[in-house]
Amino acid sequence: MHDDVEKVLIDEEVIERRLDVLSARILEEFSGREFVVVVILKGALVFTADLLRRMPIPLEIECINVASYHGATESSGQVDFLDAKLPAVEGRSVLLVDDILDTGRTLAAVGEKLREQGAEVVKSCVLLSKDKERDAEVDADHVGFYIGDEFVVGYGLDFRGLYRNLPFIGVLKQEVIKDGR
Ligand code: IMP
Ligand code: MG
Repeated sequence: MHDDVEKVLIDEEVIERRLDVLSARILEEFSGREFVVVVILKGALVFTADLLRRMPIPLEIECINVASYHGATESSGQVDFLDAKLPAVEGRSVLLVDDILDTGRTLAAVGEKLREQGAEVVKSCVLLSKDKERDAEVDADHVGFYIGDEFVVGYGLDFRGLYRNLPFIGVLKQEVIKDGR
């Protein structure tokens, strides 16, 4: 698997240190008020697991399954909600967690959905934010790292469902993306 990687963009240690800061800032943001964490699957799984273990408070975790890439390296532009039932967030404060802010459609669509479901406050956190123009007007309240407009994998992010278990954020070799393994 590591042979398929062209370069490591953000290594494990750097991610770890950044999560220490991010988790503290998020706790500060909610300043003692209770909140429920809504994880956007599957990309935010690894990030959220590490982030939340740095928060020494009793937390509730809910998941939401959406898809927008459909196996390619460009967003399809459509956000599909894959769950039959959405998390019950009425009257709650929510921390919404995603892996990456790209076109912004996912975060915008899920944020809107949660507000529709009655969430009182929705704050968002993403591991990565791509430096590009967004299709949706949305910004994350907490960002791990800003990166260029390139396709990355690892630490939860996939290419055609694979590479989520790489412990760092990296860029795949061109031939791997072309062969589409
Ligand atoms: P958006 O709706 O375009 O902002 O895209 C967000 C979703 O697209 C993320 O939750 C990821 O699952 C996926 N995505 C966007 N950029 C990348 C990337 O560089 N690598 C892997 N997945 C990505
Ligand atoms: Mg994805």
